[in-house]
Amino acid sequence: MQFETRAIHSGQEPDPTTGAVVPPIYQTSTYKQDGVGGLRGGYEYSRSANPTRSALEECVAALEGGRRGLAFASGLAAEDTLLRSICGPGDHAVIPGDAYGGTYRAFAKVHERWGLDFTPAAGHDVDAFRAAMQPGRTKVVWVETPTNPLLGIADIAAIAQVAHDNDALLVVDNTFASPYLQQPLALGADVVVHSTTKYMGGHSDVVGGALVLADDGLAEQVAFNQNAMGAVAGPFDCWLVLRGIRTLGVRMDRHCANAERVVDMLTAHPKVAEVFYPGLSDHAGHDVAVKQMKAFGGMVSFRVVGGEEEAVAVCNRASLFTLGESLGGVESLIEHPGRMTHASVAGSPLEVPGDLVRLSVGIEAVDDLLEDLRQALG
Ligand SMILES: Cc1ncc(COP(=O)(O)O)c(C=O)c1O
Repeated sequence: MQFETRAIHSGQEPDPTTGAVVPPIYQTSTYKQDGVGGLRGGYEYSRSANPTRSALEECVAALEGGRRGLAFASGLAAEDTLLRSICGPGDHAVIPGDAYGGTYRAFAKVHERWGLDFTPAAGHDVDAFRAAMQPGRTKVVWVETPTNPLLGIADIAAIAQVAHDNDALLVVDNTFASPYLQQPLALGADVVVHSTTKYMGGHSDVVGGALVLADDGLAEQVAFNQNAMGAVAGPFDCWLVLRGIRTLGVRMDRHCANAERVVDMLTAHPKVAEVFYPGLSDHAGHDVAVKQMKAFGGMVSFRVVGGEEEAVAVCNRASLFTLGESLGGVESLIEHPGRMTHASVAGSPLEVPGDLVRLSVGIEAVDDLLEDLRQALG
């Protein structure tokens, strides 16, 4: 089955009891047993498993081409459960030199205290990742591509090779691309991470996370910790993400088309100093993006002529582009990473430029979006 068909059908057979076409929200914590240990359908307690969550987990696994999907309360909950499953005190991780600020914060402020050492790779290229490896100690290589917020591109297949040459696992945060545009497991990654809050949910109405694993043994280990640590997604949140996934393909097509028009306008605008978008032929990762992505996504960042205060003023003047954190919803968002999503990396090697503005280009009529951006740029 092709992607769009899997998005609508995987894990989503009509309900066997009622025939309901949409998987019901099983808003229950526990399940009646037919005699001690007599479970109906294998469900005993909703931290361990819940049918609405199972539907989402099956669907996400099918979309990423993995053996098993696991749904969490947030993207960071998924990251945390994964890291605690694959790393321990004394281990080392290599992370991107430009990553979501919350991911960096989890490494720097949480896991480092528990003995997980890490090195940010000095660029997105394979050499930077190779140079950061510590043979024997590096257990995980973490890649985000495209990166948040600078839209850097990492070569997944090449970095998988570097990781595996050193007996490390490759984890890819696929939040920006979504499985519609890029499927890291097919390129050699071991685990895919999602903030399903973003394109998967797609409507800015739910916070969630997911992992998809390529190996049954590793999946078993992480699933054990999902239950043992308990950061699971609730049934209604799973239902919302699953509903969003059904339209992922058509939404992504429109996000990409609108983003390309926005990029065309920004690159020609006198108030814009630099545009970051992997679809631009002069973007450092363009050739790799062409190789591993179906299209270039709906996220665009740019630097504003006039520095940080002017970048903040552009964000404040925007009106149809809503000033807010997060991304990947149907509505367009604008934000100032330095003071908002990436404030947590200030003073670190991952600090972002102060004159940077990030757009999550939505699926509204593109002419309205262009008009709003032009007035915001002044
Ligand atoms: C690329 C990326 N990964 C992970 C996360 C964390 O996800 P969540 O906010 O759902 O915990 C985010 C959140 O913005 C993100 O942008």
